[in-house]
Amino acid sequence: MGRKIVLTSGKGGVGKTTVCANLGIALAMREKKVVLVDGDIGLNNLDVVMLVENKIVYDIGDVAEGYCRAKQALIQDDCYRTLFTLPSAKYIDERKLTAQVFHSIIDELSQSFDFVIVDCPAGIENGFHRAVSVAEEALVVVTPHVSAVRDADKVINLLATYNIEDVSIIVNRLKGNLVANNKMMDALDIARLLRTKIKGAIPEDDFINLHSKFKKTNANSPAAIAYGLLADYILGTGSKIYDCSSDYRGFFKKIINTFRG
Ligand SMILES: Nc1ncnc2c1ncn2[C@@H]1O[C@H](COP(=O)(O)OP(=O)(O)OP(=O)(O)O)[C@@H](O)[C@H]1O
Ligand SMILES: [Mg+2]
Repeated sequence: MGRKIVLTSGKGGVGKTTVCANLGIALAMREKKVVLVDGDIGLNNLDVVMLVENKIVYDIGDVAEGYCRAKQALIQDDCYRTLFTLPSAKYIDERKLTAQVFHSIIDELSQSFDFVIVDCPAGIENGFHRAVSVAEEALVVVTPHVSAVRDADKVINLLATYNIEDVSIIVNRLKGNLVANNKMMDALDIARLLRTKIKGAIPEDDFINLHSKFKKTNANSPAAIAYGLLADYILGTGSKIYDCSSDYRGFFKKIINTFRG
Protein backbone atom coordinates (compact mmCIF):
# COMPACT_ATOMS: atom_id res chain seq x y z
CA MET A 1 0.00 0.00 0.00
CA GLY A 2 1.32 3.44 -0.94
CA ARG A 3 1.47 6.45 1.37
CA LYS A 4 -1.61 8.66 1.36
CA ILE A 5 -0.69 12.29 1.87
CA VAL A 6 -2.96 15.33 1.84
CA LEU A 7 -1.68 18.82 1.08
CA THR A 8 -3.73 21.35 2.91
CA SER A 9 -3.53 24.86 4.37
CA GLY A 10 -5.62 27.22 6.39
CA LYS A 11 -5.44 30.19 4.09
CA GLY A 12 -6.18 29.79 0.39
CA GLY A 13 -3.67 30.63 -2.32
CA VAL A 14 -0.57 29.78 -0.29
CA GLY A 15 0.73 27.23 -2.79
CA LYS A 16 -0.89 23.82 -2.14
CA THR A 17 -1.35 23.01 -5.82
CA THR A 18 2.12 24.26 -6.71
CA VAL A 19 3.69 22.20 -3.92
CA CYS A 20 1.64 19.16 -4.96
CA ALA A 21 2.93 19.35 -8.55
CA ASN A 22 6.54 20.02 -7.67
CA LEU A 23 6.70 17.47 -4.86
CA GLY A 24 5.22 14.93 -7.27
CA ILE A 25 7.98 15.71 -9.78
CA ALA A 26 10.70 15.49 -7.14
CA LEU A 27 9.43 12.09 -5.95
CA ALA A 28 9.09 10.83 -9.52
CA MET A 29 12.67 11.96 -10.17
CA ARG A 30 13.57 9.60 -7.32
CA GLU A 31 11.87 6.80 -9.22
CA LYS A 32 8.78 6.67 -7.05
CA LYS A 33 5.41 5.90 -8.55
CA VAL A 34 3.25 8.91 -7.73
CA VAL A 35 -0.35 9.87 -8.39
CA LEU A 36 -1.53 13.43 -7.76
CA VAL A 37 -5.24 13.67 -7.03
CA ASP A 38 -7.02 16.97 -7.55
CA GLY A 39 -9.39 17.23 -4.61
CA ASP A 40 -10.45 20.73 -5.59
CA ILE A 41 -13.74 19.95 -7.34
CA GLY A 42 -14.91 22.70 -9.67
CA LEU A 43 -11.65 24.62 -9.86
CA ASN A 44 -9.41 22.00 -11.51
CA ASN A 45 -6.08 23.75 -11.09
CA LEU A 46 -3.81 20.75 -10.78
CA ASP A 47 -4.29 19.57 -14.37
CA VAL A 48 -3.41 23.08 -15.55
CA VAL A 49 -0.24 23.23 -13.43
CA MET A 50 0.71 19.71 -14.58
CA LEU A 51 0.11 20.74 -18.23
CA VAL A 52 -2.30 17.85 -18.80
CA GLU A 53 -5.61 19.69 -19.12
CA ASN A 54 -5.87 18.96 -22.84
CA LYS A 55 -5.44 15.24 -22.29
CA ILE A 56 -8.38 14.67 -19.98
CA VAL A 57 -10.72 11.91 -21.10
CA TYR A 58 -12.26 10.96 -17.75
CA ASP A 59 -12.15 12.83 -14.46
CA ILE A 60 -12.80 11.98 -10.83
CA GLY A 61 -16.51 12.67 -11.35
CA ASP A 62 -16.67 9.90 -13.96
CA VAL A 63 -14.90 7.56 -11.55
CA ALA A 64 -17.33 8.47 -8.75
CA GLU A 65 -20.30 7.86 -11.02
CA GLY A 66 -18.93 4.49 -12.14
CA TYR A 67 -18.30 5.37 -15.81
CA CYS A 68 -14.68 4.25 -15.52
CA ARG A 69 -12.10 2.87 -13.08
CA ALA A 70 -9.76 5.26 -11.28
CA LYS A 71 -6.81 3.94 -13.28
CA GLN A 72 -8.52 4.74 -16.58
CA ALA A 73 -8.87 8.39 -15.61
CA LEU A 74 -5.17 8.85 -14.83
CA ILE A 75 -3.02 10.99 -17.08
CA GLN A 76 0.62 10.06 -17.37
CA ASP A 77 3.18 12.87 -17.27
CA ASP A 78 5.10 13.44 -20.50
CA CYS A 79 8.42 13.88 -18.79
CA TYR A 80 8.26 11.56 -15.77
CA ARG A 81 6.64 8.28 -16.68
CA THR A 82 5.98 7.28 -13.05
CA LEU A 83 3.99 10.45 -12.38
CA PHE A 84 0.23 10.55 -12.95
CA THR A 85 -2.60 13.03 -12.36
CA LEU A 86 -6.20 12.25 -11.52
CA PRO A 87 -8.07 15.38 -12.67
CA SER A 88 -10.96 16.85 -10.76
CA ALA A 89 -14.41 17.27 -12.25
CA LYS A 90 -15.56 20.70 -13.40
CA TYR A 91 -18.88 19.88 -11.87
CA ILE A 92 -20.09 16.99 -9.78
CA ASP A 93 -23.07 16.49 -7.57
CA GLU A 94 -21.42 16.57 -4.11
CA ARG A 95 -23.72 13.71 -3.04
CA LYS A 96 -22.01 11.41 -5.56
CA LEU A 97 -18.46 12.17 -4.43
CA THR A 98 -18.88 11.51 -0.73
CA ALA A 99 -15.94 11.06 1.62
CA GLN A 100 -16.61 7.29 1.41
CA VAL A 101 -16.49 7.20 -2.40
CA PHE A 102 -13.35 9.37 -2.36
CA HIS A 103 -11.87 6.98 0.18
CA SER A 104 -12.42 3.97 -2.04
CA ILE A 105 -10.86 5.76 -5.04
CA ILE A 106 -7.77 6.67 -3.01
CA ASP A 107 -7.54 3.16 -1.56
CA GLU A 108 -7.68 1.63 -5.03
CA LEU A 109 -4.90 3.94 -6.23
CA SER A 110 -2.73 3.32 -3.19
CA GLN A 111 -2.49 -0.33 -4.18
CA SER A 112 -0.50 0.51 -7.31
CA PHE A 113 1.41 3.66 -6.30
CA ASP A 114 4.12 4.51 -3.78
CA PHE A 115 2.47 7.88 -3.11
CA VAL A 116 -1.07 9.16 -3.48
CA ILE A 117 -0.94 12.92 -2.92
CA VAL A 118 -4.25 14.75 -2.59
CA ASP A 119 -4.42 18.46 -3.35
CA CYS A 120 -6.98 19.88 -0.94
CA PRO A 121 -9.26 22.82 -1.81
CA ALA A 122 -9.07 26.07 0.13
CA GLY A 123 -11.30 26.37 3.19
CA ILE A 124 -12.50 23.81 5.71
CA GLU A 125 -15.80 22.77 4.17
CA ASN A 126 -16.90 19.58 2.45
CA GLY A 127 -13.93 19.33 0.09
CA PHE A 128 -11.50 19.72 2.98
CA HIS A 129 -13.23 17.02 4.99
CA ARG A 130 -13.30 14.67 1.99
CA ALA A 131 -9.61 15.14 1.23
CA VAL A 132 -8.37 15.05 4.80
CA SER A 133 -10.39 12.05 5.92
CA VAL A 134 -8.60 9.71 3.49
CA ALA A 135 -5.07 10.71 4.46
CA GLU A 136 -2.56 9.09 6.78
CA GLU A 137 -0.18 12.04 6.57
CA ALA A 138 -0.86 15.76 6.19
CA LEU A 139 1.43 18.47 4.90
CA VAL A 140 0.17 21.92 5.84
CA VAL A 141 1.43 24.60 3.46
CA VAL A 142 1.95 27.99 5.06
CA THR A 143 3.55 31.24 3.91
CA PRO A 144 5.55 33.55 6.19
CA HIS A 145 2.66 35.93 6.76
CA VAL A 146 0.73 36.40 9.98
CA SER A 147 -2.67 35.58 8.47
CA ALA A 148 -1.39 32.37 6.86
CA VAL A 149 0.32 31.24 10.07
CA ARG A 150 -2.81 31.95 12.11
CA ASP A 151 -4.99 29.98 9.68
CA ALA A 152 -2.46 27.13 9.56
CA ASP A 153 -2.69 26.94 13.35
CA LYS A 154 -6.47 26.52 13.13
CA VAL A 155 -6.13 23.78 10.52
CA ILE A 156 -3.47 21.94 12.51
CA ASN A 157 -5.87 21.88 15.46
CA LEU A 158 -8.64 20.66 13.20
CA LEU A 159 -6.40 17.91 11.76
CA ALA A 160 -5.92 16.59 15.29
CA THR A 161 -9.58 15.52 15.20
CA TYR A 162 -8.90 13.24 12.20
CA ASN A 163 -7.15 9.93 12.13
CA ILE A 164 -3.86 11.28 10.74
CA GLU A 165 -0.57 9.80 11.90
CA ASP A 166 1.77 12.59 10.89
CA VAL A 167 1.11 16.32 10.50
CA SER A 168 3.97 18.54 9.30
CA ILE A 169 4.35 21.93 7.68
CA ILE A 170 5.96 23.24 4.52
CA VAL A 171 6.83 26.94 4.52
CA ASN A 172 6.44 28.35 1.02
CA ARG A 173 7.40 31.65 -0.65
CA LEU A 174 10.31 32.53 1.61
CA LYS A 175 12.33 35.53 0.47
CA GLY A 176 15.90 34.89 1.59
CA ASN A 177 16.96 38.56 1.61
CA LEU A 178 14.02 39.54 3.82
CA VAL A 179 14.60 36.59 6.15
CA ALA A 180 18.31 37.51 6.45
CA ASN A 181 17.30 41.08 7.36
CA ASN A 182 14.71 39.90 9.88
CA LYS A 183 11.94 41.42 7.80
CA MET A 184 10.29 38.07 7.18
CA MET A 185 9.67 35.17 9.55
CA ASP A 186 12.11 32.31 9.21
CA ALA A 187 10.79 28.80 8.41
CA LEU A 188 12.04 27.40 11.72
CA ASP A 189 10.40 30.23 13.68
CA ILE A 190 7.10 29.39 12.02
CA ALA A 191 7.49 25.71 12.91
CA ARG A 192 8.19 26.70 16.52
CA LEU A 193 5.15 29.00 16.59
CA LEU A 194 2.94 26.23 15.23
CA ARG A 195 4.62 23.58 17.40
CA THR A 196 4.68 21.34 14.35
CA LYS A 197 7.49 19.48 12.59
CA ILE A 198 8.74 21.15 9.40
CA LYS A 199 9.57 19.05 6.34
CA GLY A 200 10.24 21.72 3.75
CA ALA A 201 11.09 25.36 3.08
CA ILE A 202 10.51 26.63 -0.45
CA PRO A 203 11.85 29.97 -1.70
CA GLU A 204 9.90 32.51 -3.69
CA ASP A 205 10.47 31.73 -7.37
CA ASP A 206 8.75 33.62 -10.17
CA PHE A 207 9.23 30.70 -12.57
CA ILE A 208 7.79 28.08 -10.27
CA ASN A 209 4.73 27.51 -12.39
CA LEU A 210 6.52 27.21 -15.68
CA HIS A 211 6.27 23.52 -15.10
CA SER A 212 7.91 22.23 -18.24
CA LYS A 213 10.70 24.74 -17.95
CA PHE A 214 11.16 23.79 -14.31
CA LYS A 215 11.39 20.15 -15.25
CA LYS A 216 13.74 20.47 -18.18
CA THR A 217 15.99 23.46 -17.78
CA ASN A 218 15.68 24.79 -14.28
CA ALA A 219 16.64 21.72 -12.26
CA ASN A 220 19.32 23.61 -10.31
CA SER A 221 17.14 26.54 -9.33
CA PRO A 222 16.79 27.17 -5.58
CA ALA A 223 13.16 26.00 -5.73
CA ALA A 224 14.12 22.72 -7.44
CA ILE A 225 16.83 22.12 -4.83
CA ALA A 226 14.33 22.90 -2.05
CA TYR A 227 11.82 20.43 -3.51
CA GLY A 228 14.56 17.81 -3.78
CA LEU A 229 15.31 18.20 -0.06
CA LEU A 230 11.58 18.02 0.72
CA ALA A 231 11.26 14.78 -1.25
CA ASP A 232 14.31 13.32 0.53
CA TYR A 233 12.81 14.27 3.89
CA ILE A 234 9.54 12.59 3.00
CA LEU A 235 11.36 9.48 1.78
CA GLY A 236 13.43 9.38 4.95
CA THR A 237 16.67 9.65 2.95
CA GLY A 238 17.45 13.12 4.30
CA SER A 239 16.48 15.48 7.08
CA LYS A 240 17.55 18.87 5.76
CA ILE A 241 15.34 21.74 4.85
CA TYR A 242 16.41 24.39 2.36
CA ASP A 243 18.10 27.41 3.93
CA CYS A 244 16.61 30.28 1.95
CA SER A 245 18.69 33.01 3.54
CA SER A 246 22.18 31.47 3.38
CA ASP A 247 23.03 33.39 0.19
CA TYR A 248 22.18 36.64 1.88
CA ARG A 249 24.06 36.31 5.13
CA GLY A 250 27.55 37.57 5.91
CA PHE A 251 28.77 41.13 6.40
CA PHE A 252 29.05 42.32 2.78
CA LYS A 253 25.90 40.52 1.71
CA LYS A 254 24.07 42.17 4.60
CA ILE A 255 25.15 45.59 3.31
CA ILE A 256 23.93 44.76 -0.19
CA ASN A 257 20.62 43.58 1.27
CA THR A 258 20.23 46.78 3.20
CA PHE A 259 20.71 48.82 0.02
CA ARG A 260 18.30 46.58 -1.84
CA GLY A 261 15.78 47.13 0.95
N1 LIG B 1 7.35 29.45 -4.16
C1 LIG B 1 6.60 30.24 -4.94
N2 LIG B 1 7.15 31.32 -5.56
C2 LIG B 1 6.41 32.13 -6.33
N3 LIG B 1 5.10 31.95 -6.58
C3 LIG B 1 4.49 30.89 -5.99
C4 LIG B 1 5.20 29.99 -5.15
N4 LIG B 1 4.33 29.02 -4.73
C5 LIG B 1 3.13 29.33 -5.28
N5 LIG B 1 3.23 30.45 -6.03
C6 LIG B 1 2.15 31.11 -6.78
O1 LIG B 1 1.09 31.41 -5.87
C7 LIG B 1 -0.16 31.32 -6.54
C8 LIG B 1 -1.08 30.40 -5.74
O2 LIG B 1 -0.54 29.10 -5.75
P1 LIG B 1 -1.45 27.80 -5.72
O3 LIG B 1 -2.51 27.87 -6.76
O4 LIG B 1 -0.52 26.65 -5.74
O5 LIG B 1 -2.10 27.98 -4.27
P2 LIG B 1 -3.24 27.09 -3.61
O6 LIG B 1 -2.94 27.05 -2.16
O7 LIG B 1 -3.35 25.79 -4.32
O8 LIG B 1 -4.53 27.97 -3.90
P3 LIG B 1 -6.06 27.54 -3.61
O9 LIG B 1 -6.23 27.65 -2.13
O10 LIG B 1 -6.85 28.56 -4.36
O11 LIG B 1 -6.23 26.14 -4.11
C9 LIG B 1 0.13 30.80 -7.94
O12 LIG B 1 0.13 31.87 -8.84
C10 LIG B 1 1.53 30.22 -7.83
O13 LIG B 1 2.25 30.31 -9.03
MG1 LIG C 1 -5.04 24.88 -5.21
